[in-house]
Formats: sequence, C-alpha cells, structure tokens
Amino acid sequence: MASPELGEMLAFAPFQGGIWEMSAEMAADRGRKLGGRVAVVTGGARGIGFAIAARLAEEGAAVVLADMRVETAREAAASIRAGGGEAAALPVDIGDNASVAALAAEVDRLHGRCEILVNNAAISDTTGIDRMTMERYHEVIRVNQDGAIRVTVAFLPLLRKAGPGRRILNIASIMGLRGSPDAIPYSTAKGAIVNFTRALACDLAPDGIMVNAIAPGFVDTPMSILADGSHEYNADWFRDIYVKYGRIPLRRFGKPADMAGPAYFLCSDDAQYVTGQILSVDGGVSATF
Ligand SMILES: NC(=O)c1ccc[n+]([C@@H]2O[C@H](COP(=O)([O-])OP(=O)(O)OC[C@H]3O[C@@H](n4cnc5c(N)ncnc54)[C@H](O)[C@@H]3O)[C@@H](O)[C@H]2O)c1
Repeated sequence: MASPELGEMLAFAPFQGGIWEMSAEMAADRGRKLGGRVAVVTGGARGIGFAIAARLAEEGAAVVLADMRVETAREAAASIRAGGGEAAALPVDIGDNASVAALAAEVDRLHGRCEILVNNAAISDTTGIDRMTMERYHEVIRVNQDGAIRVTVAFLPLLRKAGPGRRILNIASIMGLRGSPDAIPYSTAKGAIVNFTRALACDLAPDGIMVNAIAPGFVDTPMSILADGSHEYNADWFRDIYVKYGRIPLRRFGKPADMAGPAYFLCSDDAQYVTGQILSVDGGVSATF
C-alpha cells in the first residue's frame, strides 16, 4: 500500500504542471483549418482515437471513426455532430484484410478520398517472455503492427487522390522507444510502428504525404485498466516510481485531450516540413531515467 505520506504528497503537490488550458485567442483561432479534408481515425470510438478525431473535427475535417466497437463509434460520431462537427462511424477490424478493404471502399464511396489517416487502433498486452505463447504474440502483432500497415496500404490510393494537406499519423508508444517488463508483443509491435513511420515517410515524401507518429506515455483510457480490473494509476509501483520519484516530470497521468493538440499539429499545415518524426507526448517520461 502507498504510505500516507505519499498520498499526502500526491494530494497536495503544489506543482500541477501541464494541465490543459486554452486562451481566448487560441480558442478563437480554432475552427476551419482542416476544412474540406477527410480524416479517418481507426479506433476512433473512444480513448485517444476519439480525442484526436474530435479535435480534427473541431478544426473542420470530416472525420470517419473506424472501429470494431461499432455502437460506441456511432455514439461518438453523434456526439461530434452534436457539437457541430462532421462525423460518421464505420465498422472495421484492422486485423482482417477483407474488413480493411471494405472500410477503404466505403470511405471511397462516401468521400472519394482521404487526406488524413490516423492509425490509432490497438489492443493492450502485458505478456512477458516467460508467459507469452506464440499464438498471443501473433495476435498482438496482427492487430497492433500489421493492422496499421494493412490500413495504410489499403488507404494509399485514397491518400494519393486527395487534396493538399495529406498526412499519415501513427500512434506509437513510449513502449516502442524504451523497454519495460511484461510487454514483449506490445513493445515489439510499437517499436515496429516507430520505424515503419520513418521508412514510410521516405517512401511517401515524393507524393507530398507527411508521415509522423506520436508516442504517448501513460494516458487515462480504458486501456489503462489492468487485467484484474484495477486502474494502473492506483498501483503502488506506478505512484512510487513514476510520480513520487519523478519519472513523470509533469507528475500526472496523461488525458486523451493531451494527445489531441500534438496530433492535430502533425496533421495540420503547420507540419508541412515535418516527416518521419516520433513526437513523445508523455509528460516528460522519456526525457528522464
Ligand atoms: N492509454 C495509454 O496509456 C497508451 C499509451 C501509449 C500508447 N497508446 C496507444 O494509443 C492508441 C489508443 O489507445 P487507447 O488507450 O485510446 O485505447 P482504447 O482501448 O481506449 O481504444 C482503442 C480503440 O481501438 C479499437 N480497436 C481495438 N482493436 C481493434 C481492431 N482490431 N480493429 C478496429 N478497432 C480496434 C477499440 O475498439 C477502441 O475503440 C493505441 O495505439 C495504444 O497502443 C495508449
């Protein structure tokens, strides 16, 4: 159990850096910068994918929330529309070739192009080498690694016939940049996404398609719920190592909204000379040791 002192420290920590705040000027500037662009976000039904999709919609993009949780995606799309954005939900299993081909065909039918592709969908995994079966390994790779590549291949024709501002944004992880225990398939897949991003950026530069990734740190989403139902944030090891001893310099879990701004930047016209880059959005975790 966490000591009372630690609990006290967390409750009364004077430093609350990094909380999202928006000035009136920033708010007024938001609106139509992605107007006329079609954005497809895999795993857009909830969590980080939804936060990114909502931000892209806020900036004027017509977003497609492509997810295997179809009902959740429909509700999410409805909430974006209720806020004045343009959004639709489509079903997909990014682990399946036919399902991904059907998604690309439907986006083609609806919009005829795709300016922004966000490869966000993934599953969590906490398997270390001793507990891992090859079946589990291949399952995580099929979704988390091959899924992003499969979707990219299927959407390339739609990106190539799209208008200006063409972007691919992959959602990697700090786990793809650093090692940590009990995460062999997940870390392997995310490491692959990191270098897929760099290699793809080279291949697609002649097409004017910028390819970048964000590497989130610890973000409070349904993925943060551990196998036993508890939240990672409440684990003693997490609070001790990451908060008490400063391994998250900003001393808090990330929120999905913290991912949205950096994701938007990489999808925007402000990032037209940025490609092949991995932006860690992690409260400083990867800056320390
Ligand atoms: N939450 C974190 O702490 C964290 C940290 C680093 C990276 N990430 C990455 O961020 C991304 C989003 O994660 P999240 O935390 O929002 O997770 P989440 O579980 O809340 O959301 C993932 C979404 O992807 C969808 N999905 C999963 N498998 C799919 C499939 N085969 N086909 C279609 N949709 C599928 C789910 O239905 C869900 O809506 C993932 O790539 C994840 O690896 C998350």
